[in-house]
Amino acid sequence: MTTMLRFIACGSVDDGKSTLIGRMLYDSKQIYIDQEQALIKDSKQGSRGGDIDFALLLDGLSAEREQGITIDVAYRYFSTDRRSFIVADTPGHEQYTRNMAVGASCADLALILVDAMNGVMVQTKRHSRICSLMGIKHIVLVINKMDLIEYDKGRFEDISQDYLNFASNLGFDSIEVIPVSATDGVNIVEKSLHTSWYKGDSLLKYLEEIDITTQSSTNGFLMPVQRVSRPDSNFRGFQGQIESGSVAVGDEVGVLPGSEKAKIKSIISGFENIDCAIAGQAVNITLDREVDISRGSVLIKNSQPAVADLFTATILWMDDASMIAGRSYFLKIGTKQIAATIIKVKHKVDINSGSKMSADSIIKNEIAVCDIALSEKIVFDKYISNKTLGAFILIDRVSNMTSACGVIEHQLDRSDNITWQKTDITKADRLKQKGQKSLTLWFTGLSGSGKSSLANEVEKKLVAMGKHTMLLDGDNIRHGLSRNLGFKEGDRVENIRRIAEVSKLMNNAGLIVLTAFISPFEKDRQAAKEIIGDDFFEIYLSTPIEECEKRDVKGLYKKARAGVVANFTGVSSPYEEPSNPDITIDTSENNLSTSTSMVVSKILDLIE
Ligand code: ADX
Repeated sequence: MTTMLRFIACGSVDDGKSTLIGRMLYDSKQIYIDQEQALIKDSKQGSRGGDIDFALLLDGLSAEREQGITIDVAYRYFSTDRRSFIVADTPGHEQYTRNMAVGASCADLALILVDAMNGVMVQTKRHSRICSLMGIKHIVLVINKMDLIEYDKGRFEDISQDYLNFASNLGFDSIEVIPVSATDGVNIVEKSLHTSWYKGDSLLKYLEEIDITTQSSTNGFLMPVQRVSRPDSNFRGFQGQIESGSVAVGDEVGVLPGSEKAKIKSIISGFENIDCAIAGQAVNITLDREVDISRGSVLIKNSQPAVADLFTATILWMDDASMIAGRSYFLKIGTKQIAATIIKVKHKVDINSGSKMSADSIIKNEIAVCDIALSEKIVFDKYISNKTLGAFILIDRVSNMTSACGVIEHQLDRSDNITWQKTDITKADRLKQKGQKSLTLWFTGLSGSGKSSLANEVEKKLVAMGKHTMLLDGDNIRHGLSRNLGFKEGDRVENIRRIAEVSKLMNNAGLIVLTAFISPFEKDRQAAKEIIGDDFFEIYLSTPIEECEKRDVKGLYKKARAGVVANFTGVSSPYEEPSNPDITIDTSENNLSTSTSMVVSKILDLIE
């Protein structure tokens, strides 16, 4: 067998992962002479009393060498006569789960290391669950440091049983348990007499021989479009990698989302025209007629992935900030990136037992099953049938960091049961009737910064000019539409979402909308901007908190300082300044009349 095996090694800190992989490289003669000499020299200064410290081979980063921990995903390539390997060595610390998930997402097999002295730990279970979530089907439980328990067969069997009981419902196809000592090289490349009771293979032999070929359930042709290439007006090609199946010139293919069909005119691989192409190949395809195709479209033949904007998924939360249902993130799946909202946490999963626990939000390293809504329909598949179209990441709008990774379980039916109803009278008709352009003036700032007063004054000016307007004010909306919401972060997220949707409706009705809400979180204002679109115009009242507190019109700062009002913005809850507002006004420096003129003069061109 000459196939490639990609595997990931996971374990807690000090389980000996790096030593184990270093030993595999060393014993299978995968290092160069100069590396070996450096290793012997470095080991003299290390923590192993002059014996070779194989972990040093792996620990490429100097910081981790000093601290003795692995802090990034280190990919190693090595090969034996029988197989090539790519191994991802990932950090053991809990805060590095993100790297582990990344390593696991492209692995066929996982080595889960346990220390024979400690047995199965919470971290062992967490790693196994993440492997299961990321679709890994083959596990090797490596029970390391057998030398420290005198190669005790009974202890080995207890740990094995413990793990097998735990992992029985994680959906793995194979679990092999191997007793090793990485430092002494026992059962890594060669079998050892120390474990004469062990009848299985050495670790390397097992890895060389395991059959990891899986029967893909989608055998039909499927290619997500990564790029539309248009070098000149005569050529329009669709580039991408074929995920499954095969395709030939002349074949009829469908284009998702949508129902259009076209025939394959040509297939180009590199600079050559070819007649057919198969899974794994990167190609440029042209069609016999014009079809609306963009990045994220999927070409299919004899396969039927789902198209929907609502699905249930299992996610692993990786962000330091906890997940808040209702907040909008970017979702990246295959070649597509769109806005997405976790609308509901159905339950979170207990790492130890796998049992379902009710939850409204989840924190870093927790796994949960959630319903996710998207801003438009996308093409996806179940992860078990298609890794590319079944796995996604959620990206924070402001920091651009990956907040979570997830796999799609199934689409939600109601996604198909709601359709967009076209009306004969359009936004353009309504605007024409009112003789104006629509706009949402989004005032943001601390309580007492002057949002309501300024919005009120600007509205009066606009009405005097004959404009049709509507003012949505924080306190007023909380008497009705948002009466069921408080001031916790999740409530504010929902409050702002509602206001953004209402503003959009009113813009569609042809109105100029003024909103006066603290709207303290940048992510949520960005989500509002996305909902409202080009009509969004942000006005930041930068009045300093000292001034707002001095004004304290409603006496709330005083109450907040006394601890009577909780989660008060600026006192016990944060206010994030807008990064790029259309206007900034400090009302402690500009009086009401000046501030009003500043706003009106800036928006005149936009509403006439
Ligand atoms: S937002 O954060 O969701 O945008 P919103 O603008 O609707 O807040 O409501 C803010 C108003 O509610 C304030 O002007 C103040 O009068 C009142 N309020 C009551 N409790 C709080 C609180 N904990 N934090 C901020 N404002 C509060």
